[in-house]
Amino acid sequence: MMSTADATLEVDAISKSYGDVQALKELSLRLDPGQFMALLGPNGAGKSTLFQLLSGLFVPDAGHIRICGADYQKQPTRCLAQLGIVFQQPTLDLDLSVTGNLRFHAALHGLGAAGRARIAPLLEQVGLGASAQVVCRTLSGGNRRKVELARALLHQPALLLMDEATVGLDPQSRTTLMTLVRGLCRDQGLSVLWATHLVDEAESADRALILHRGRKLAEGTPAELMAQSGCTTLEAAFLQMTVPANAGARREEKIS
Ligand SMILES: Nc1ncnc2c1ncn2[C@@H]1O[C@H](COP(=O)(O)OP(=O)(O)O)[C@@H](O)[C@H]1O
Ligand SMILES: [Mg+2]
Repeated sequence: MMSTADATLEVDAISKSYGDVQALKELSLRLDPGQFMALLGPNGAGKSTLFQLLSGLFVPDAGHIRICGADYQKQPTRCLAQLGIVFQQPTLDLDLSVTGNLRFHAALHGLGAAGRARIAPLLEQVGLGASAQVVCRTLSGGNRRKVELARALLHQPALLLMDEATVGLDPQSRTTLMTLVRGLCRDQGLSVLWATHLVDEAESADRALILHRGRKLAEGTPAELMAQSGCTTLEAAFLQMTVPANAGARREEKIS
């Protein structure tokens, strides 16, 4: 127990099926404070399913989750208090202002005056200080995502989950969002699980986990993943592991 007490997130052999579809198969991973891990997988890999288990929307069929040392099944409230999430589908109230969305979230989570007082500095931090009173519907996609990021951080979680948060954003907004989140890891020790199907978003990650059909195919630093697969780019390594016509994928199926 002592050796694992410091992990922000420990996922131990979790599985989850929807009827006949096994969305996750005995997935394990560990995330330490300040680490940025890319969860890299094509559509249908099981990324959102993992996030749904981590946010308590579903219970795993098997396996265990611990957040900051607390067992998810035994202490769900303690775990959820350490979790901030930006879902794949946008969830802002577009008719409220930026501040209005955050105040609503603060009230929902019983954050009180201290929570409300964090709204303005957080909006400054994500670059939306000048837009605090703007109605969200008028914001660009990139700025809407920044509002969701600020909202996810309002209760000061140790673990941030980003579920394909850059989908639909232009390259500059993608870079801005990524840079912001990397800064939070570096400066505040935030741990981040960043789900994406875009290989370039995993290239600068501390670690990347390649998920395919619910299984972990590989995990390591981007350099380790390239070395393991004998490829010179992460893109090539990812394709080699995940493209169905590939021999490695067939071998994978035979042993399943
Ligand atoms: N609510 C659900 N009911 C049934 N099947 C689902 C549900 N959610 C996801 N799936 C299936 O589980 C698998 C993993 O999906 P998902 O976790 O959404 O993957 P990703 O986020 O990596 O695209 C897919 O085969 C998907 O069709
Ligand atoms: Mg998804």
